[in-house]
Amino acid sequence: MKIIATILCAAAILTGVTTVDRDLFKICEQSSFCRRCRKVEPNNSPFELVPGTLNTFDDSFTADLVNKNNGHIFVLNVEGVQGDIFRVIVDEKTPLKKRYRVTDALKGPAKPHSISVTDSKSEIIVTSGQNKAVIQASPFKIDFYRSEVLYVSANAKGLFKFEHYRTKPVSPPEGEENKEQEEPRDDVDNEPGAWEEDFNSFHDTKPNGPEAIALDFTFPQAEVLFGIPEHADSFALKSTLDGEPYRLHNMDVAYYELNNGMGLYGSVPVIYGHGTNGTAGVFWMNAAETWVDIYNEKNVPSLIVSEPDDEPLAAHFMSESGIVDAFILLGESPLNTFKQYTDLTGVAPLPQHAAFAFHQSRWNYNDEVDVLNVSANYDVHDIPLDTMWLDIEYTDHKKYFTWDPNTFPHPLEMIANLTELGRHLTIIIDPHIKVTDNYNVHKDLTERDYYTKNKDGEVFEGECWPGTSGWPDLFNPDVRKYLADQYLLENFNTTTQDVFIWNDMNEPSVFSGPELTMPKDNLHNTEMGTYEHRVVHNLYGHMQLMSTFDGLVRRGEGKLRPFILTRSHFSGSQRYAAIWTGDNTAEWGHLQASLKMCLSEAVSGFSFCGADVGGFLRDPTSDELVERWHQTGAFLPFFRAHSHMETKRREPWLYPEATKLVIRDAIRKRYTYLPLWYVLFYEHERYGYPVMRPLLGHYPNDPEAFAIDNEFLLGDRLLVHPVTQLGATKVDVYFPRNSITGEGDFWYDADDFTLFNSVGYVTVPVNSYKIPVYQRGGAIVPKKEVIRRASTLMKNDPYTLIVCLDRFNEANGTVYDDDQRSYEYRNGKYVYSQIEFKSNVLSSKLIDPTATFETLAWIERVVIAGLDKVPQSATLSTSSKRITLDVVEHQRAYTIRNLAVNIAEEWEITLNY
Ligand code: NOJ
Repeated sequence: MKIIATILCAAAILTGVTTVDRDLFKICEQSSFCRRCRKVEPNNSPFELVPGTLNTFDDSFTADLVNKNNGHIFVLNVEGVQGDIFRVIVDEKTPLKKRYRVTDALKGPAKPHSISVTDSKSEIIVTSGQNKAVIQASPFKIDFYRSEVLYVSANAKGLFKFEHYRTKPVSPPEGEENKEQEEPRDDVDNEPGAWEEDFNSFHDTKPNGPEAIALDFTFPQAEVLFGIPEHADSFALKSTLDGEPYRLHNMDVAYYELNNGMGLYGSVPVIYGHGTNGTAGVFWMNAAETWVDIYNEKNVPSLIVSEPDDEPLAAHFMSESGIVDAFILLGESPLNTFKQYTDLTGVAPLPQHAAFAFHQSRWNYNDEVDVLNVSANYDVHDIPLDTMWLDIEYTDHKKYFTWDPNTFPHPLEMIANLTELGRHLTIIIDPHIKVTDNYNVHKDLTERDYYTKNKDGEVFEGECWPGTSGWPDLFNPDVRKYLADQYLLENFNTTTQDVFIWNDMNEPSVFSGPELTMPKDNLHNTEMGTYEHRVVHNLYGHMQLMSTFDGLVRRGEGKLRPFILTRSHFSGSQRYAAIWTGDNTAEWGHLQASLKMCLSEAVSGFSFCGADVGGFLRDPTSDELVERWHQTGAFLPFFRAHSHMETKRREPWLYPEATKLVIRDAIRKRYTYLPLWYVLFYEHERYGYPVMRPLLGHYPNDPEAFAIDNEFLLGDRLLVHPVTQLGATKVDVYFPRNSITGEGDFWYDADDFTLFNSVGYVTVPVNSYKIPVYQRGGAIVPKKEVIRRASTLMKNDPYTLIVCLDRFNEANGTVYDDDQRSYEYRNGKYVYSQIEFKSNVLSSKLIDPTATFETLAWIERVVIAGLDKVPQSATLSTSSKRITLDVVEHQRAYTIRNLAVNIAEEWEITLNY
C-alpha cells in the first residue's frame, strides 16, 4: 500500500499533476529534531567551559565544555587553518559510539596555521595572523575578529544544542523509581519523536535516539546573508522566523515551487554575511539533514537588505546528527571569502571545451536514427551543437551500462558518427540498480555484498525507474571502485573515451521511500564504520561522483578530463561534476529562478551550473519563453536544452522561423564567447574565484547591489541582465558603484559599444534578439567570430580581442588556451597571456613564460572601444615582424584587422596618431 502510494506520487510527473505534492515532504514541525532545535530558548545557554581543562598546541587548543542541564561533557577544539580561517569542532568527550565526521567534502586535510592562546578566567583569546577568536567561558560563546573588527559570533543567541548519544530510558523496576539515573538525562528523552518517529506511512526506528546538534552564528557587519543552496529562492536569504527554515536535505522534488526554502537536490551548507564593512562566511560541515533559520528583522522579501541599526543578521544551523564542525571564513572581501571556501572544498576543474558549449538533451531521443537526425538538423539549420544526450530509455530495461538492443543496436557506430562531426554523446547512469537475475551489475553487487542495507542488515530494496532496485553502498571504497570500473572500456565496450556521463537521481531518489529518498535507518559501511543513512544522507550523490570521476579518469588513462553532470551535490562535489537545477518548469518564474539558483551555487563552489533551457516540465507557455531561455542559458556556465518525455519536441527548427532564428542567434553568441568562458574556468581553477558572480563580488560597497539577482557578472568582465519577462520591450539594468572611485564604471553594450557610465538603474530597450550584456570599461574579452558546427572544430580559429577602455584609457584581460580536453595543461602545455592596453599600446605578454603550447590559432582582429582620439594607423611588432595596419572605425569602436599573430606569441600594437 505504502509503495503504491508513493510510486503514484512520483509518477505525478508522468500524469499531469503540476504542483509539488507538499504532503510528501516534511516541514520543520514534522521533524522532531527540527522542532527540538527551534524550541531552544535564546539567551539562556546551558553550555560553559570547564575550568582547568585547556590544552594548547601549535595550531589548536582543546577545552572541555559542559551542558549544565545534564552534566554531559563535550570537547571544544578550535584550530587555526591556513588562509585566515578558524575551525571549530565540538564532539562528545566519551560518546557511547564514535560520531560520524565528514571528510570527503574537503579537498584534503585543512592545512594548520599556528595560533597563540591567552587564557584568563572568563575568556580564552586565540590569535592567528590578523584574526582573533575570543572564547567566552560562561555562557559559552565565540567571537571571531579580523583586524579587531567583529565579523562572526557563534552562540551569541545561545541556541547551541548538542544531544549526546544515550541509551533508551527504560521504566525503572517497581520500587526503584527514585533511584538516581546512571547517565545524564534531560527533557529530550521524553520529546515525541526522539526515539522513533513516523512520517506519513513511514516509520523511522531511530536506534540511536536523539542526536541533534545546532548552533547560531551572528554576522554583526552583514547587511545581507546569502549561500546555503540549493533552494528555488532569491540569492539574498530571507527571514524564516515566521515561516519555515531553509532546508538542506537532498530530495527529488517534482514540480518544485519558487520562492521557498524547501530542500531540493543539493545541499551546500556554506553561508556568507556581507556588508559595506566586509564579508565573512561559515561552512557548517555536516552531511545530515539540516535546517537553517535566518534572523533578519526586515521580514519583507523585497527589502531583504538590513540597515546598520537593525539586530545583527544571524543563521541558526540545526542538523539531525554528526558533530559540530564549522569553518569560520574571515576573508574580509567577498571574493576572498568565496576563495577560502574553495581552498577548503576545491574548485571545479577546467572542463573540456565541449562541456561548456551547447548541449541538446531530451527524455528521450528514441533511437539511433533520432539522435543522428537531430545532430544533422543542427547542421542543416546552421546552429552549433557539441553534445547529444541520452536519457534513461537508451538502456535495456533501465539496466545501466547496457543498451536497448532494439532502439540502440549499434551504439559504437552512432558515437563514431557524432565524433566524426566533432560532437560528443552524454549518457545517463543513475545509482539505482535493477534487481533482476539477468544483470551482471546486480549479480556482482549481490555476490560481493555491496548493496546498502536496511535497518535489519538485509539488502535494502526500493522502487525507482527500473522497478525494484538496490542502491550500491557508495560509502564503501570497494563499492566505489567496483562502479568506477564499470566505466572502463574493457567493461563498457559499447562506449568510447569520448562519452560524457550524467549521474541523476542520486539524492538518492527512492520512489517508495520517505520523502522520496532512502529510509534514515538504512545502514552504510563507511570508512569510519557502520553508520545510519541519516548521518550521511547529503553525501550519497557526492560518493557516486567520486566513483564516476575515478572511473572516467581511468577510462581516459589519466589523460582526459572527465565531464560529469550531477543532480545531487554536497560541498566539494564541484571537484567532480557540473550541476543543473533539476526538474524546473517551463514558466517565466523558473527562467528567473535559474539565475538566482546558479548565483547561490557559484558562491558556494559550483561555478559550473545551469538550468534546463526551455524548462523541463510542461510545454513552454510561449515561443518567446523558449527564445528568452536560450538567450539566458547562453550566458550561464552550463548550457543544455532538456525536456520531459510528455512535452512536445523542442528542437529549434520545430518552432516558427522567427523563433528558430532567435535561438540560433543566442547559441551562436555563446560560441563567440567560448574563449572568455575558457579563460574564466581556467582562472577559477587557478585562483578559486567563481566564474559567475553576484554584483557584490566586485561592488562590495554598493548596498543597492547586494540583493540583486536578476543580473550577474561573468568574471569581472561582463555584466549580463537577461530578459526574463513576457513581452518585455525594455529592461532596467543596474549599473553598480565602484568602491574605489565612488563612481560608476564604464560599461559598453556588447553589441554596439554604447557607453553607460552612471550609477543606478537605466532603462534599456530590447527587441527579441537583444540580450543586454555589457563589457566593463577596463576589461579585455577574447572572442571567436567564426562559428562552426561544434566547438571542437574551432580550436585553430582566429581570435578577436574586444578592448573596452576605462575612464583612464586603460584595459586589461587574459587569454588562455591548451589542447582543450586533456590534462596536459597540468604539465605546462598551455598558453596564458596578459593583454594590456596602456598609453596607446596594446600588448600581450606570457604570464607563465615556461609554459608552452603549440597552436595554429592566431589573433586576427582587435576592436578598441572608448578611445578619445581617432588613430591614423597601428603598428604591430613581434620578435619577428613589424607591420603597419589600418584602423577602421565602426559603431563607436576602432578595428585593426589581419594581425596574424599566433596567440602563443608576445606582441605589441602601437596606435599612431
Ligand atoms: C530526473 C531528471 O531530473 C530529469 O532531467 C530526467 O530527464 C529524468 N530524471 C529521467 O531520467
